[in-house]
Amino acid sequence: MASARSSRALRLALRQASAPRVQQRTFISAVNSASRPAVKQAAVSSFVQQARGVKTVDFAGDKEKVYERDDWPRDKLLEYFKNDTLALIGYGSQGHGQGLNLRDNGLNVIVGVRKNGASWKEAEQDGWVAGTNLFDIDEAIGKGTIIMNLLSDAAQSETWPHIKPMLTKGKTLYFSHGFSPVFKAQTGVEVPKDIDVILVAPKGSGRTVRTLFREGRGINSSFAVFQDVTGKADEKAQALGVAIGSGYLYKTTFEKEVHSDLYGERGCLMGGIHGMFLAQYEVLRENGHSPSEAFNETVEEATQSLYPLIGQNGMDYMYAACSTTARRGAIDWSKKFKDTLKPVFEELYDSVKTGKETQRTMEYAGRKDYREAFEKEMEEIREMEIWRAGKAVRSLRPENA
Ligand SMILES: NC(=O)c1ccc[n+]([C@@H]2O[C@H](COP(=O)([O-])OP(=O)(O)OC[C@H]3O[C@@H](n4cnc5c(N)ncnc54)[C@H](OP(=O)(O)O)[C@@H]3O)[C@@H](O)[C@H]2O)c1
Repeated sequence: MASARSSRALRLALRQASAPRVQQRTFISAVNSASRPAVKQAAVSSFVQQARGVKTVDFAGDKEKVYERDDWPRDKLLEYFKNDTLALIGYGSQGHGQGLNLRDNGLNVIVGVRKNGASWKEAEQDGWVAGTNLFDIDEAIGKGTIIMNLLSDAAQSETWPHIKPMLTKGKTLYFSHGFSPVFKAQTGVEVPKDIDVILVAPKGSGRTVRTLFREGRGINSSFAVFQDVTGKADEKAQALGVAIGSGYLYKTTFEKEVHSDLYGERGCLMGGIHGMFLAQYEVLRENGHSPSEAFNETVEEATQSLYPLIGQNGMDYMYAACSTTARRGAIDWSKKFKDTLKPVFEELYDSVKTGKETQRTMEYAGRKDYREAFEKEMEEIREMEIWRAGKAVRSLRPENA
């Protein structure tokens, strides 16, 4: 789509985008900012009340409390968890990010993983010491007061019959996904009735949880309470959310978290966008466009130029950065895409809600050869012409030259 005019507009937009952004500032500095572009006004006026920490924010007419790191300064966290041992079970992407952040925050955290598994070695590489703060799963659960179940979702189900009896009264069970308890009919994860069960789900990979913490920012997370026997489950979830490295926390339910998460990743976040890329690329190729042209007009310009603009300041900002020609056509066609795709999204949401997606995940992850099967699918994707063309396009970037 890049015409000369749109490229000029894009360059202008990129210059504007490189100025300090609302997301990078506190709400106070945003409110105090005397000269801000109109697009930023919307974000500022959505803010209706601020105390230190908890805020009520107007999300397009829906007022919601947002909890933030300032509610739980480090001293308060240390005091709150002074009698707790946080036993982090599993050391995949989330275990790594959440575990290291908890450790850096000074909390009493231990890791529990299979001895001699890949995670054990990774934990050792990250400085966890066998017998001091690195144990096998049973021993860690025995020592822990807050059991943070960060095994893969399939492993949570597989290990549940073994783990459940160790979750005795007084302990707290923590998840980062509502998957296991919500779909208990398929996973078998029926939680004990006499313990608090809470969730903090970071909106990003564990690597990002770690990176944003180290940058002093913090990831957005949702938190939820599945079962509150102590009357303290809600505040415990908020505190843990901050302790693992969240900047802001939105309250949800286990059900809503898992439904939206499974739906989103199958839709716009991953599956849907991949499908759109493939369809657009194929039509370009069938009409005689070269692989590089088809890739650039489908993926490269999207990920390198336009999607970051949406992320920085919204869809209207991206449209405003493009030529009149591009804008006119895009706005017209967006309606057709929406109408055509909505039934697909409805089908997808239904498939999530009824547990069909869970069933499929459990069956797939339950296969002995699932790692090999997954690798085979990745190989097929890597070998698709579109992604091979992409590799060549990326090789031209200065940083890859
Ligand atoms: N990754 C994300 O972006 C993300 C984001 C938000 C929430 N979450 C949620 O966070 C949780 C953890 O996800 P993750 O991606 O960090 O984990 P993961 O990579 O899927 O799983 C990691 C852990 O599971 C262990 N494991 C697998 N099978 C096992 C078995 N049969 N017995 C014992 N341990 C087993 C692995 O240990 P070995 O090395 O010993 O195999 C590893 O430590 C999940 O509930 C997930 O939905 C993930």
